Amino acid sequence: MEVLKTIAEMRQARKASKKTMGFVPTMGYLHEGHISLVRQAREKNKLVAVSIFVNPTQFGPKEDFRTYPRDTKHDLSMLKPHTDFVFMPSDEEMYPEGYDSWVEVKGITDMLEGSARPGHFRGVSTVVLKLFNIVQPNRAYFGQKDAQQLAVIKKMVKDFDVNIDIVACPTVRESDGLAMSSRNTYLTPEQRRSAPVLYQSLQLAQELAKQGEWDALAIRKEMTKLIQKESQADIEYISIADNETLKEIHRIKYPALVSMAVRFGRTRLIDNLVLEE
Ligand code: PAJ
Repeated sequence: MEVLKTIAEMRQARKASKKTMGFVPTMGYLHEGHISLVRQAREKNKLVAVSIFVNPTQFGPKEDFRTYPRDTKHDLSMLKPHTDFVFMPSDEEMYPEGYDSWVEVKGITDMLEGSARPGHFRGVSTVVLKLFNIVQPNRAYFGQKDAQQLAVIKKMVKDFDVNIDIVACPTVRESDGLAMSSRNTYLTPEQRRSAPVLYQSLQLAQELAKQGEWDALAIRKEMTKLIQKESQADIEYISIADNETLKEIHRIKYPALVSMAVRFGRTRLIDNLVLEE
């Protein structure tokens, strides 16, 4: 496994081989969710590249950029069995003095995470396009955990004719259903005990829809009731939307994306489930 810190080194490494490459962009503090993406990349490609870069431009001024958890040593040891190249640039390498270009995907960034975190997706799409241009993979792997991010990247790749296949990977969960996330480490023991309610509420939505409940508002009400039983949980939004346009729906129509953001103290967790027929 080679660790590359500059764009020039990464380009050189890519140039040295014409083999198929799978790429997994991350912000580090890796867990089994990230590693599942890396494994899927390994299965389909001769080479696997992973980037670790806590991208400052996707954090709002009041968000956790400075305190976002970092542990490079542990990350590298987790990647070693599965990875050929780790790209780990500095902030200055990615955004040198005078940096002034941005990628903006309109429409699907207006709602959900986009409206809760203004500027977030501009930072994500900009850094991902830069990483794609630097690493030049054949395929790139993204988690369904961040459903809207996945939709934004797919749209950007389509609109900009980027010649990379985007592969969606299922959400990896703890045994009690909590979706794995680097931010789970912020939870107090009590909040951690309450947090599985997110997935429970998603399963409830799925059950209600299966039983024939077609009214999205009624489903949202039941989910809200369940989550509010946890005194630590503070709902930011619960959405039931068309899985492609991400526009809210009133009547269940498949496939539907049920997604949510819930705060536990200062920690903000997101989760989602796609309802299918
Ligand atoms: P990060 O949060 O580190 O996530 C990296 C990738 O891992 C994303 O595609 C995310 O959806 C996926 N992932 C995270 N938790 C997962 C889980 N429990 N199961 C499956 N996949 C999971 O997402 C980002 O970084 C950044 O926005 C990035 C795309 C790297 C741009 O900076």
